[in-house]
Amino acid sequence: MAVLVLSDDQRRKWDSSDDALFYSQPRFVQHLDEAFRQRLTALYRERLPADAVVLDLMSSWVSHLPEEITYRSVIGHGLNAEELQRNPRLERRWVQNLNTDQVLPLDDASVDATLIVAGWQYLQQPEAIAAELLRITRPGGQVIVSFSNRMFFTKAPQIWADGSDRDHLEYVGTVLLSQGWSKPEVIAEETRHAGLAGYFGGKGDPFFSVISAKR
Ligand SMILES: C[S@@+](CC[C@H](N)C(=O)[O-])C[C@H]1O[C@@H](n2cnc3c(N)ncnc32)[C@H](O)[C@@H]1O
Repeated sequence: MAVLVLSDDQRRKWDSSDDALFYSQPRFVQHLDEAFRQRLTALYRERLPADAVVLDLMSSWVSHLPEEITYRSVIGHGLNAEELQRNPRLERRWVQNLNTDQVLPLDDASVDATLIVAGWQYLQQPEAIAAELLRITRPGGQVIVSFSNRMFFTKAPQIWADGSDRDHLEYVGTVLLSQGWSKPEVIAEETRHAGLAGYFGGKGDPFFSVISAKR
């Protein structure tokens, strides 16, 4: 049983219709700008060993993994089968609405690293997901939750929709800690616009990441 952190009100979202409807049409777009994506790929290059079994939870058609590294295995999850089918890195994939079913179809201690990018902000039962991730992670394995300052507002629970960037970092860390993950490491950085504007001080999407390990 997960330790509950959120109140019922904090889990509510403006659009309470089934998330599967919202994601029924594939969106072949980038949700984060190039500067953010480059920063994220650099983080993965630094933190993920090549022999890792990687789970890309709440994924899409896009992979942020470094192209030059072949991991032991990359498993993907999302809410739209067509998007996942198009993702070049996924060897296995499945579709599951995590707001209606939090039990992941993966064995205990079978994953080395779970990556969540611009996804945590849509979780209504984050405690149960964090507890499941702890179950499927090998001791010494990690979870890396990354996000920027944007969201599909109507689909974000109140805890996220009402919070600042700093609140988001604290909230993700609190939920992970509450389920037994290690004290999180937090990365909060500005990025430089990846195009010409970057040379003139233009900013890209801000980069936030919360990283915890299974002791
Ligand atoms: C903004 S997209 C980010 C996709 C991808 N991680 C990326 O970096 O481009 C949000 C993703 O969260 C996932 N998602 C949102 N609501 C979900 C839900 N109720 N259950 C499972 N996944 C959900 C979907 O996979 C969706 O593609």
